Amino acid sequence: MFSHILTDTGDQRFVIQVHGGAWAIPETLKLPHAEGVRRAYQAALDNLNNGKDPMRAVIAALKVMEDDPVFDAGTGSFLNEDGQVELDAAVMEGKDLKAGAVASVGRFKNPCEIALAVMERTDHVLLIGAGAERFALAEGFKPVDPKSLVHPREYEGYEAWVKAGRPDSRIFFGEEGKTGTAGSRAEHSKRGTVGAVIGARSGAGFDLYSGISTGGTRGKKAGRVGDAPLVGCGLYADNEGAAVCCTGWGEAFIRMAAAKSVSDLVGRGAHPQEAVETVLRNLHRRTKGRGGIIAVGRDGRTGAAFTTPDMAYAGPSCEQLIL
Ligand code: GLY
Repeated sequence: MFSHILTDTGDQRFVIQVHGGAWAIPETLKLPHAEGVRRAYQAALDNLNNGKDPMRAVIAALKVMEDDPVFDAGTGSFLNEDGQVELDAAVMEGKDLKAGAVASVGRFKNPCEIALAVMERTDHVLLIGAGAERFALAEGFKPVDPKSLVHPREYEGYEAWVKAGRPDSRIFFGEEGKTGTAGSRAEHSKRGTVGAVIGARSGAGFDLYSGISTGGTRGKKAGRVGDAPLVGCGLYADNEGAAVCCTGWGEAFIRMAAAKSVSDLVGRGAHPQEAVETVLRNLHRRTKGRGGIIAVGRDGRTGAAFTTPDMAYAGPSCEQLIL
């Protein structure tokens, strides 16, 4: 864990937490990860200080990390089994439980902005694949050459994955009890989902906002959708509970409905730190999955924890859980 930001906006008008993925981050990549999440945090803070609405601040933070090839989101994402980029993203607001998401889009630099457009300009929550791309084009989003989203390092990683016999994503996203060498796990588990949660004071409580973006897992099956764009799994926001964002092996977070579980615990009175730790422990106990979760509760208190060796994080406080 690193990039621990101890300052906040002073009068606690806002609470921001940002993560850039939970995994065994190699020493050489720790500084770029720390810098990336700090810049994302700062982008959110600048937007809030300039009077932008908190959802725009979430988007600002996500875009910084989508545009930074250090992270597995937007530019720099993993390639699927066919060597293609397929991106997932989502946003959610806790006041009215409004949400928007896209899955398996391959031609857009900032899928988080398309997710926001789904929330704000349609009656739907989740658009996928060709339909999502058609919607994005109709809404004026400029398509890019999908190759421009691939960092040269990822072609090498993809080739290595093919040479290694196309190992199952469960091996390199931390499901224990599966075979696979430590080397293959280290090689294939590089980079992580990005996310941001914000609490903005509103009367006696906080309005809550959450956003997430990912390229998924290397070698994932074409059409595989992870936890990120699934409301209640990779993210959730409920003014009666918490704004929550998860990172890690998506299939486990889906099976646990992890983000909604955290929010519900907070809604029933748990401190957000207790809630994220409980869900991460249960996730490991039930699925052997590992990862990280950030949350802001309805009273502005925060929780952040991870069960991997590292998590790129910026916010008030974060704990590593030894399982
Ligand atoms: N948590 C990101 C994914 O599994 O797609």
